[in-house]
Amino acid sequence: MKYDFDREINRKGTNSVKWEFIKQGNELLYRKEPDDSSASARLLPMWVADMDFPCPEPVVEALVARAQHRIFGYTSPTDSYYNAIVNWMKKRHGWEIKPEWICTTPGVVPALHMLVKTYISPGYKVLIQTPVYYPFNKAIENSDGVLVTNSLIYEDGRYSMDFADLELKTKDPQVKMAILCSPHNPVGRVWTRDELLRFGEICIKNNVLVVSDEIHGDLIFEGYVFTPFADISEDFSQSSITCTAPSKTFNLAGLKTSNIIIANEQLRARFKKTLERTAMGGVGAFGVVALEAAYNHGEEWLAQMLDYIMGNLQYLEEYIAEYLPQISVVPLEGTYLVWLDCCSLGLSKLELKRLILSEAKVYLERLAETRQSFKKHVRKIFALKCEYGVYSLIAAIKRASSVNAYGAQYIENILYQDMTPERNHPPVRLKKEYLNRICLEEPILAEYDTFIIKRKKRS
Ligand SMILES: Cc1ncc(COP(=O)(O)O)c(C=O)c1O
Repeated sequence: MKYDFDREINRKGTNSVKWEFIKQGNELLYRKEPDDSSASARLLPMWVADMDFPCPEPVVEALVARAQHRIFGYTSPTDSYYNAIVNWMKKRHGWEIKPEWICTTPGVVPALHMLVKTYISPGYKVLIQTPVYYPFNKAIENSDGVLVTNSLIYEDGRYSMDFADLELKTKDPQVKMAILCSPHNPVGRVWTRDELLRFGEICIKNNVLVVSDEIHGDLIFEGYVFTPFADISEDFSQSSITCTAPSKTFNLAGLKTSNIIIANEQLRARFKKTLERTAMGGVGAFGVVALEAAYNHGEEWLAQMLDYIMGNLQYLEEYIAEYLPQISVVPLEGTYLVWLDCCSLGLSKLELKRLILSEAKVYLERLAETRQSFKKHVRKIFALKCEYGVYSLIAAIKRASSVNAYGAQYIENILYQDMTPERNHPPVRLKKEYLNRICLEEPILAEYDTFIIKRKKRS
C-alpha cells in the first residue's frame, strides 16, 4: 500500500515525551501548553529520536486486534517472536542468528546499563567514541565504571574513527568494554566493513568486549551498506554483544521492546543472571505483537519511509547550501538525525543555545561541543542535532531572522522554493495549518497567502 507521510497527527494528549515534556537536568517535566497561546510562547520539539509518522498498517491492525481481546495479562514471547527477529536479521542484513541468542529487555538504554553492570566491576574502564548518544555516558557512570573517550576525527566535513588513539587507549588493561554506536548517532556514519574490522581487531587483541548498539541499523540510505559487527567473523561474534530493537525503525519506542543478541554462551549466561536479579527481562503484551507484525510485514512501509526522509534530507541540504551557507550539514549515511556544523556562525556555545532555544524556539538535543587538536591549534566545533523536520527549520529560521545571523529574506525564499515542482522526491509541502501551528506569525502567513494567490494567477 502507499503510505501518506504528509499526514499530520496531533500527538498532544498522548503523554508523548517529545511533544509534552521537557528535560531539565535529569528530570523529565510535563510541559503545559502555555496560557499565552501566542506563537512566541511555543517551543517546537526536535530533540528525542521519535518520528511523527503513523506506524505501518500491519502493526496497527495487529495491535487493534490484540486490544480487542480485552485481557492484558503477563506475556511471554513464543517461537514466532524469536523467528520474526531471526528472519529479519537474515533478510535485512544477511546475518544468521539463533533464537536462543536473543535476550529481551525493555529498551536498549536499560540494556546498556545492565550490560555495564554485568561485565564491568566498579573502577574499570569503558570506552566510547565521542560525540555520541549521551546515555552511553550515563550507563557507564551509573554503574561506577570509568569513562574513556576515543574522539572521532572530524576532517573535511566527515567523521572517521581515530584508530591510533583507539590502539593506545585499549592497551590499558583496565579498559574492559567498548560501546560502539553503529550506525553512529549523532554523526550519521554507517561504518564500513573495513572500519568495523579494524575497530574489532584492536578491541579483541586487547581483550575489550564490544557492545555494538545497532538500534539504527535498519535506517540506511541508498549507497551505504550496514554490516552487523558480530557478523564479520566467528571471533567477532564470540567477543561482542549486539543491541537491537524495532523501535527506531518502525517508531515503536513506547512499546519498550528490544533484543540483545549474544552468541557467546558464557557471556549470555552472565547477562541472563543480571536480568533475573534485576527482574528486568520479559516483554509487554503489545510489544510482542508489534514486533512480529513490523518485522514480518513492515518492509514496504520502511522502504517508503526511507525514501520520504531522503527527500527531506535533500531539501534540507539544498536549502542550507543556498540560504544558510554558514551552516554545513554533515553527510548523512544512516539514521534520521541530522548533525549540523554551526562553527562558522561564529557564535559561542551560549549564544548558539540562546538562538536556537530562545529565539528560534526549537528544542533540540543538547548541543555538543567537540574539541580537536589540529597540529598547533585547537578547533572548536559547535554542532547541533535535530530530527528531520523541514517545516520546523523554517520556523527556526524565521525566528532566528529577528536576531541577526540569517536575515528575513530567507523565509521568503524557502516559501517560494517550496513551490519548485521538479523534484525527484516528494516535495515538502508547506501547509498553512501547519505553519500556523508551528508558530509562524501573521505577516508571514499573509505573505504566504499572497504568494499562493499570485502563483495561482500565473498558472
Ligand atoms: C544509539 C541509540 N541507542 C539507544 C537509543 C534508545 O533506545 P531505547 O529507547 O530502546 O532505550 C537511541 C535513541 O535515540 C539511540 O539513538
